[in-house]
Amino acid sequence: MEINDQSYRIQGVSLTDLAKQYGTPLYVYDGEKILSQVEAIKTAFSTVKLKIKYATKALSNINILKLMKQAGTGVDAVSIEEVHLCLHVGFEPQEIMYTPNCVDFAEIQEAVGLGVMINIDSIPMLEHFGTTYGGKIPLCIRLNPHILAGGNAKISVGHIDSKFGISILQLKHILKVVDAYGLQITGLHVHTGSDILDADVFLKGAEILFEAAKEFKDLTFLDFGGGFKVGYKTGDVTTDIMDVGNKVSQAFQEFCGEYGRELEIWFEPGKFLVSESGYLLVSATVVKPTPATTFVGVNSGLNHLIRPMMYDAYHEVINISTLTGPERVYTIVGYICETDTIAADRKLKEVKEGDILAIKNAGAYGFSMSSNYNSRLRPPEVLLLNGKTHLIRKRETFEDLLRNQILVTMD
Ligand code: LLP
Repeated sequence: MEINDQSYRIQGVSLTDLAKQYGTPLYVYDGEKILSQVEAIKTAFSTVKLKIKYATKALSNINILKLMKQAGTGVDAVSIEEVHLCLHVGFEPQEIMYTPNCVDFAEIQEAVGLGVMINIDSIPMLEHFGTTYGGKIPLCIRLNPHILAGGNAKISVGHIDSKFGISILQLKHILKVVDAYGLQITGLHVHTGSDILDADVFLKGAEILFEAAKEFKDLTFLDFGGGFKVGYKTGDVTTDIMDVGNKVSQAFQEFCGEYGRELEIWFEPGKFLVSESGYLLVSATVVKPTPATTFVGVNSGLNHLIRPMMYDAYHEVINISTLTGPERVYTIVGYICETDTIAADRKLKEVKEGDILAIKNAGAYGFSMSSNYNSRLRPPEVLLLNGKTHLIRKRETFEDLLRNQILVTMD
């Protein structure tokens, strides 16, 4: 975001103008930022055969998926609905990695029918798969490496208490099942968590994967999942993608040498690709001094951006209506009927009713985790690309709230 002639602009477009044109609350995505993040990963892993599988769940608007397709990424899908969205925008089935957890086997069969790569994360499902398909369909196995990593307990998923993946301690059992059914295992996968800072965590995951990989002769790829951390506050430490790229690529090349074949390396970034591209624009509805603080109430809340309440996530907030003058300390809160703090004790340029605030880093897990709680409507989404503005989702209407409800006669 640049400050220019007294307004915040992205690709030359003023955010306050967008707020006026489309109203608030409004999600805005900077398409150029998404493309530059894709390039950053490609550059960091330029010495190995890299495949980026964008984690659809982070932001699944079909235009974002189309942009990823144009940028040359594949996709990671965690539900059959995400698989269908990705197919809908033109991804080839073989570009889609489907990583379900605790789904009915029927959903896995549907995905097999669609021709996508299946990532299995439990031994019973592996056995089901073997009984149904034998070795006909190539398959990936999600291992749980028992590494504790990630920014918050809710998003740390590779540790011993986690429901994800097949324990690395069960490797012998996996091998017996693979052998018994003649399964064709072409990939192994780990995903340890989200908001991972350190190259060392990826290296630790890699070591475990390399050790296990030696037992599988048909591999064509190893998938290290997602989790690269982005900066949420000024001065925040972020994943040094070049450092991760150099270290992991070197370890990967050494492994491929030992394995005897050059494999592909896959990553499934979500946040890294789309978080910083997104802004949630909201309007200040009330500035309310209390004995403890001054609240700024806004016309949005945890129904549109749940991360602050769900993960204690820090999202920077800027008053884009007032760029000069004194700063004051505020707590920015949403309009939802329970504690709904977006940002506590923050210095902002003095806020007046009607000012537009931009909540940053709202691209990943913002709209995709939004809801109609309090029977509120979800905001529209706008994508900026090549200096042009595209409305990519309409604001919901009252009819949308009623759409699937059935008013019955009660007698
Ligand atoms: N691959 C798998 C198998 C995953 O489960 C996830 C995220 C990713 C890739 C992408 O992770 P990322 O690069 O975005 O960190 N709602 C939470 C994050 C949940 C992540 C769930 N899995 C948040 O807002 O922080």
